[in-house]
Amino acid sequence: MRIQPSILSADFANLDAEFASISSADGIHVDVMDGHFVPNMTFGLPVVKRMQEITSLPLDVHLMIEHPDHWAPKYAALGVFSVTVHFEACENLANLIPKIKSEGSRVGVAIKPGTPVTAILPYVENLDQVLVMSVEPGFGGQSFIPSSLDKIAELKSLLAERGLATWIQVDGGISAENISQVAAAGADTFVAGSSVFGAPDRNEMISRLRTLAVESAH
Ligand code: DX5
Ligand code: ZN
Repeated sequence: MRIQPSILSADFANLDAEFASISSADGIHVDVMDGHFVPNMTFGLPVVKRMQEITSLPLDVHLMIEHPDHWAPKYAALGVFSVTVHFEACENLANLIPKIKSEGSRVGVAIKPGTPVTAILPYVENLDQVLVMSVEPGFGGQSFIPSSLDKIAELKSLLAERGLATWIQVDGGISAENISQVAAAGADTFVAGSSVFGAPDRNEMISRLRTLAVESAH
């Protein structure tokens, strides 16, 4: 069970201190948005490069951008832990997956709430993680979409049928109130933005979320 706070909810002017405040995290989820694939914009390669230089925590890069076929290998080349592209934005996913891997990053594919789990099945043998979005991508602080639970359970059973240990990541609206249900559905990797960064003690919240997830795991 892994907890990855989303840097989208952090103070971008104090990243050193923000990283230090989540030192017990399993990784940091880094939301890259381009104002085209999603109606919001964050930062790009030079900022992620600096993040990679100033923290020893694994960076999990979530690319909510157009043209991931062009950009994703460049993020992987920074040495980040994982790079996740959106299924809906990819031109040639079969070609892109090995390009990301050859730069040394783990590779993930994300699906928006309206995209069925079956869309990623042709590629799943080559993926390290599948990200089930539990909100419409673009903004932190939204409510978890309940139908995501069925998608997570469906993905879990499709992976089990194939004997795959692919990580099931979930992103959007995760909190201490719902993480048990999400873990029980089959997720093992949890992105949490506002619930961690809004907590008075962020490391205490990370540990609480992890404990709740472990207690509800399969
Ligand atoms: C939304 C981003 C999420 C976001 C999650 O598009 O992909 O990573 O930061 O934030 P919370 O946990 O607040 O929903
Ligand atoms: Zn994200």
